[in-house]
Amino acid sequence: MENDRVADLVETYQNEEGTVIGLLQDIQEELGYLPADALGRVSKEIGIPLSTLFGLATFYSTFRLEPVGKHHICSCVGTACHVKGAPFVVDTIERTLGINAGETTKDGEFTFDTVSCLGACALAPLVVVDDEYYGKMDQKKVTKIIKSHARRE
Ligand code: FES
Repeated sequence: MENDRVADLVETYQNEEGTVIGLLQDIQEELGYLPADALGRVSKEIGIPLSTLFGLATFYSTFRLEPVGKHHICSCVGTACHVKGAPFVVDTIERTLGINAGETTKDGEFTFDTVSCLGACALAPLVVVDDEYYGKMDQKKVTKIIKSHARRE
């Protein structure tokens, strides 16, 4: 099934003469990340060395080589958020989940990332969980939010 989707996307890429970045974006959108075997298949099909594809996938921070957890937490660490206490929020998230930014918990429940600005600086410090925005964040609030999302399916 996964291989069929990758094959379809490669075929579309070849027919429409798309960009390799666009192809990788499409695969990630379809599968949630870029599995190594999918990159291997793309490499074979379009004749681009696997090392080049891995280079692209690691250069652009939007690409993921590992699956994302059931819940995605993103903490802004841009200047406005930093000044208003984002480092404390990030530290609390990392300690609560037992992972560092860029990692997923072993049970696959949470993935935690940081970003440099979410464009809503008036709400600093800002955290986004599963596309829901939580502004004026502090250590106590973020702990509660993580716990409430842990109970959700
Ligand atoms: S710096 Fe955090 S939203 Fe802009």
